[in-house]
Amino acid sequence: MTQREDAVLRVGDQEYTLPVIVGTEGEIAVDINQLRGTTGMVTFDRGFANTAETKSAITFLDGEKGILRYRGYPIEQIAEQATFLEVALLLASGQLPSQSELDEYADEVTHHTMLREDMKHLFEAFPREAHPMQILASAISALATYYPDALDPRDPWAKDISMKRLLAKVPTMVAWSYKYSQNQPYVYPRNDLDYVANFLHMMFSYPTENYEVDPAIAKALNVLFILHADHEQNCSATTVRVVGSGHANIFSSVAAGVHALSGPLHGGANQGVVEMLEEIVTAGGDIAPFVERAKGKEDPFRLMGFGHRVYKNFDPRAQIIKRHAQEVLAKLGADDPLLDVAMQLEEVALGDDYFIEKKLYPNVDFYSGVIYRAMGFPTDLFTVLFAIGRLPGWIAQWHEMQKDPTTRIGRPRQIYIGEPKRDWVAIEERSTS
Ligand code: CMC
Repeated sequence: MTQREDAVLRVGDQEYTLPVIVGTEGEIAVDINQLRGTTGMVTFDRGFANTAETKSAITFLDGEKGILRYRGYPIEQIAEQATFLEVALLLASGQLPSQSELDEYADEVTHHTMLREDMKHLFEAFPREAHPMQILASAISALATYYPDALDPRDPWAKDISMKRLLAKVPTMVAWSYKYSQNQPYVYPRNDLDYVANFLHMMFSYPTENYEVDPAIAKALNVLFILHADHEQNCSATTVRVVGSGHANIFSSVAAGVHALSGPLHGGANQGVVEMLEEIVTAGGDIAPFVERAKGKEDPFRLMGFGHRVYKNFDPRAQIIKRHAQEVLAKLGADDPLLDVAMQLEEVALGDDYFIEKKLYPNVDFYSGVIYRAMGFPTDLFTVLFAIGRLPGWIAQWHEMQKDPTTRIGRPRQIYIGEPKRDWVAIEERSTS
């Protein structure tokens, strides 16, 4: 980090000097840690759009240039060359593992994929049509009740085993909740398969019939999981950090992150995209009315899968996913009208002044659903697939925060705009309006 001159804040005739922090890639922040103490003022920043809450060494993102790097490595290289567990280890440890380190890590994670047998009752307590994101958050939360001796975030052994258990067990929980929703028998994990292949096996095998994992599908899912693995201080990662900052255990923190991800403005958008594309196809395939609606000020409708808080040029993940969507569909011989509509919609929106001026581009969720559909996943499972992919990021962010001695409990300020002080009125003396 290079040194920059301090910033000066002038309020009336008072001047305050504020230190400036510079990141590895030249990002600059005015450090306001002492602001309230010295001036009595706080800052006001809706959606934290201008606020860096932490220093982090995990992911670098330049939204103006469309750059995304995990631990310094460009996403384009990682997506094509790494395995998902390799990325999980990279994000958590900061270094590319040697083959023996990776083998050891994969072996440990693999040997935690089983769930306690009585956890089946948890899935069976839900209505069969329950949304899988709600079930996943509940199941992750419930994991804490099975491992009460390994919950202390200040205990290195407890942290290590909990991070591995979480990563290992989530695919099993997702597959089992799916099997229950379909009234099908649960399929147990297989230790001879890798992370992605094992997940596909638990999802699509039957006790009577093994699902032959297609290497092309496994490869594409591996890429998708990697592309979702971390995205620095996004809504769900921030949620994980804030919950964890109160020293909540990792299961509670990540369960909260799953809830944050479920919203349609965040991870829930991948389900929203496919539902929107289906609506367009059902309405006859004309995209123009949908684009017009998205532009209307009065209409809350937005083009799902478009726009991003940080990317203002292009989302590098979307470009990689688009290429894979075309390849996977070609490989499976699947001719999905939704892919054609998605490509037309992208073309029209990218040439439209509204989207150009507001710098709205397809995001990671725009094409992912089309691939998941071709792979045989039901629409309401798409956000859960995002959650599996995002696990390494949530885990690494939680871990980094717990290790950082400067971490403080997440507790923002507010500007109160309610009533000024007034006296209590007894109920019989209140006027009815
Ligand atoms: N369709 C139409 N207009 C849009 C869209 C869209 N998809 N996204 C943003 N806008 C408009 C918005 O109405 C606003 O217009 P104005 O300045 O006239 O008020 C302007 O663009 C800026 O949008 P914003 O809502 O202030 O931007 P934000 O950074 O707060 O929100 C976003 C970012 C991703 C929530 C938003 O772009 C959006 O709702 N997109 C659709 C949902 C979506 O695809 N979400 C997935 C995000 S990427 C993966 C993830 O994070 O999980």
